[in-house]
Amino acid sequence: MAYNQHMSEQHWDPTVYLRDAAFVPALGVPVLELLAPRAGEHILDLGCGDGTLTAQLRAAGTEVLGVDSSPEQIAAARARGLKAEVMDAHALPFTEEFDAVFSNAALHWMLEPAAVLAGVRRALKIGGRFVGEMGGAGNVASVVAAYGGELAARALDVRQYNPWFFPTVTEYTRLLESAGFIVDSIDLFARPTALPGDVREWLTLMTQPFLSAVAPAAQAELVDAVRTRIRGQAQQADGRWELDYVRLRFQARKV
Ligand code: BEZ
Repeated sequence: MAYNQHMSEQHWDPTVYLRDAAFVPALGVPVLELLAPRAGEHILDLGCGDGTLTAQLRAAGTEVLGVDSSPEQIAAARARGLKAEVMDAHALPFTEEFDAVFSNAALHWMLEPAAVLAGVRRALKIGGRFVGEMGGAGNVASVVAAYGGELAARALDVRQYNPWFFPTVTEYTRLLESAGFIVDSIDLFARPTALPGDVREWLTLMTQPFLSAVAPAAQAELVDAVRTRIRGQAQQADGRWELDYVRLRFQARKV
């Protein structure tokens, strides 16, 4: 696992995110329920995006800080009146400050998980909870395979552009335990996910590091080619699009 030089190609426009990806935090509500936040707890929301779930944590009476690598998303979170900071999750600066760290749909963008987990553990008080959900092994495999085919056809190696870490249960359990966590539960499950519109919008918003493999003028054509490759699997009889999401959901404790 290593940093991918093309990760920096991913940018978030909060308005587009709200239009094309509001389902991401909406589907994170069960993870909030697993966290079971208690009023007065200090919580770190790791990869908070535009703060949709951070706001729900605050509404539950917690003292919550959201952090994210995207300045645009942090500005959107602050515009909701939330405490939020731009931060690299691989270099968290906190020591024994939080009762819990929460993360939804963000950890798979962080390609040095051991560094992330070391920072999460340091940030937690003894007994503190780490509760999260991320893409797991096989997540959007149709999309990854389609980019593999399209980039190979252009004599490019998809591994250089893949921005995602989708671990198995065994892999992530080992990472958590090596970082000093007790794993209370960890589950991998398929969650086919309906998109609000055409998959073109999802590909344009979510797969910028793959698209950076080609010149900006060629990116719309690459999106269309990937769309064509996944169409048979991802487009339903009624024309709607559904992607093969797989989730890895866990709760762990610092001991
Ligand atoms: C996910 O939440 O699993 C995900 C989101 C964007 C791109 C890839 C995966």
